[in-house]
Amino acid sequence: MFEKEAKFAVEVAKNAGQILLERFRKKHNITFKGPVDLVTEADLASEKFIRKEIEKNFPADSMHGEESGGSDFSKGRVWVFDPLDGTTNFAHGLPIFAVSIALCIDGMSKVGVVYQPLLKECFSATEKGGAFLNGEPISVSHRAKISEALAVTGFPYNTASCINGIMPELRKMIIQTRGVRRLGSAAMDLCYVAAGYFDIFWEIDLKPWDVAAGALIASEAGGKVSDYSGEPHSIDRKEILATNSYLHEEVVKILKPVQS
Ligand code: IPD
Ligand code: CA
Ligand code: CA
Repeated sequence: MFEKEAKFAVEVAKNAGQILLERFRKKHNITFKGPVDLVTEADLASEKFIRKEIEKNFPADSMHGEESGGSDFSKGRVWVFDPLDGTTNFAHGLPIFAVSIALCIDGMSKVGVVYQPLLKECFSATEKGGAFLNGEPISVSHRAKISEALAVTGFPYNTASCINGIMPELRKMIIQTRGVRRLGSAAMDLCYVAAGYFDIFWEIDLKPWDVAAGALIASEAGGKVSDYSGEPHSIDRKEILATNSYLHEEVVKILKPVQS
């Protein structure tokens, strides 16, 4: 199912990735959404391109993109996308960023595509159809000991207000795992759990466009994706935990759910 949409999302993500590549390590025109929350001309150009393609190919569908917002993603067919996930990396010339595009129906991801243009790596999944990297099936790791796990996390832009909640968990994860990384692209973090490079990913305060594609890819690759209490993930949750499934219960015991 959703073959047409998946093919379209792959094509659009690759072309949007090309837009980013053409602007990578060039002089940027940077504006600010918050003190450390940047937007570059590449975010805007990629968003504009993705919107135009969706309007042309699926005129009846709605859209929800990071830079220009849009429809309520919890109802009907909505394309939820991040035109550049990893903006801070991109703006500093670090080669870790991606385009993320998902089709959600009534808030549930049905198609997910994450494209990393520098490595030309395209991660994709459709609901119940498995997960792929450049068309080849991928699956999560089989590591079952937390002491052998490589974990990744991220920090929201409003760190000052949540630092006290983040630090105790980070401390425990650093001590108990083989290592903790912070890549700066949640979409890629999720795909790297899907491909078995990471065993655990956790983060608070992500937005639907950060996770709508990657969470589907991680779960279709055999991972488990939930909130911090182990309850099923949904794209508007305050927290996300994605693991290779073997380590899930153990990590749930470490993480404390965010109070809403
Ligand atoms: C950010 C990245 C980062 C995560 C932030 C996100 P952006 O998205 O995914 O890894 O830690 O919380 O906002 O702003 O680069 O699209
Ligand atoms: Ca993002
Ligand atoms: Ca973004």
